[in-house]
Amino acid sequence: MSFQNDKSDAAKPAEKPGDPNNPEALVRFMMTEWKPQAKPLPKPVAATDFHARRRAALSERFPGEVLIIPTGHEKVRANDTYYRFRPGSDFFYLTGNTEPDCVLVLTPRHGGGHDSHLFVEPNPGRASETFYTDRKKGELWVGARLGVEQSRARYGVDFAHPLEALKAFLEQHPIARVLRGFSHLTDGVVPRRDEGKPDDELATFLSEHRLVKDALEIKELKKVIDATKRGFEDIIRVLPKASSEREVEGTFNLRARVEGQDVGYGTIAASGANACILHWTRNDAGLKKKDLILIDAGVEGHALYTADITRTLPISGKFSKAQRTIYELVWRAQQAALAEVKPGNDFMAPNLAASKVLAQGLKDLDILPTSVEDALRPEHLFFKRWSLHNVSHMLGLDVHDCAKAREEVYRYGKLEPGMVLTVEPGLYFQLDDLRVPAKYRGIGVRIEDDVLVTESGMKNLSASIPSEAGAVEAWMKGVWKKKAR
Ligand code: GLY
Ligand code: MN
Ligand code: MN
Repeated sequence: MSFQNDKSDAAKPAEKPGDPNNPEALVRFMMTEWKPQAKPLPKPVAATDFHARRRAALSERFPGEVLIIPTGHEKVRANDTYYRFRPGSDFFYLTGNTEPDCVLVLTPRHGGGHDSHLFVEPNPGRASETFYTDRKKGELWVGARLGVEQSRARYGVDFAHPLEALKAFLEQHPIARVLRGFSHLTDGVVPRRDEGKPDDELATFLSEHRLVKDALEIKELKKVIDATKRGFEDIIRVLPKASSEREVEGTFNLRARVEGQDVGYGTIAASGANACILHWTRNDAGLKKKDLILIDAGVEGHALYTADITRTLPISGKFSKAQRTIYELVWRAQQAALAEVKPGNDFMAPNLAASKVLAQGLKDLDILPTSVEDALRPEHLFFKRWSLHNVSHMLGLDVHDCAKAREEVYRYGKLEPGMVLTVEPGLYFQLDDLRVPAKYRGIGVRIEDDVLVTESGMKNLSASIPSEAGAVEAWMKGVWKKKAR
């Protein structure tokens, strides 16, 4: 399944940050009589070594070249209001910095390797009137930015500079590879070469480097998966009284904001036949006790890793016979897929295993009109009328992680220890599908777990979130018995 993760809004924002109506005298007055601020340098973030190692890998891949990785800018939501800023994943992966507008530049060092230069918004404190006059960046409007020297200390880069020095710096390095589509500053100043090929290679390397997670990334993924479990339990707790999909979405999103940064993607809370619409994020329907609700949601943590979990729950706490039949078929397909997650297997092996189970199940239910073999042929794939999507994608900083990796190393590549992927088969019977017995129409089921490839096989990181039908019913009952935490 594919969500837009679009950072391409690189156009320069049109708004003027200052308020022209401030009387001069007021601005002068605002500059006086503030207690001097002591600003000790902050401690480095705990992950500094990891970021440095990732920059070293990048340096090694592009020796002697200038590399430019911006984080992007805040995006206008309406007029002078902005969406909450989310750093560019590659920039964050290399620095740990979360402020908007920043840019990382790696310049080659004499004798090998690179220097890291981090361009950040300065924090002038009360020394510049902008603390009050700049609505977009001023401390009294949006809170303090970390500042230049502070950023160098905190993120462990070799040099930090104010953003206003970026343009001149880039003009001195006109031949460079740029991570494009994030920033008008860097896209505008550094010319594209060879139809963008050098830039594409930079994006591809970063995506491919992120395919195998390091220990820090795995720790962060575990954290957000555990938080997501708590979010699902919050939902179960409110389900008996909830009247709408929005209430379900809001309940999960509260957990995401309390424990993490945000949700990693728009929460899908799809009840009844809405579950048959893959990216149902409108979530504007009421809930009916007899229906299932498909919830596809993930907490994005403070380190920006996201979970991506789907559970399909009976709103009443009990599956009907028809719901259970379809649910168990999807669950068996998922078990078959999970068994294929091991190093050396094709990335597509879990997909194939799930497809076989689904096709056989659809045949047994007299829904598939052809033989199973015929339906599975790559030139047919008839079973996909009801399963619609493949079962896996990489997971990490982005819900659909590593999207710029080449097909030969991702889709047609092999699984390796340290990769984290989803396993998420589904079946979706549209209300108007005449191939499907009436009792199954309007049922949509997806079960999605997040899985780490290990040296010997795999570890299901979300295994503690019940998925087998009976276990789901028992889980719901258990949550309803427990008092709210
Ligand atoms: N939540 C999007 C997906 O499952 O891929
Ligand atoms: Mn999902
Ligand atoms: Mn997914």
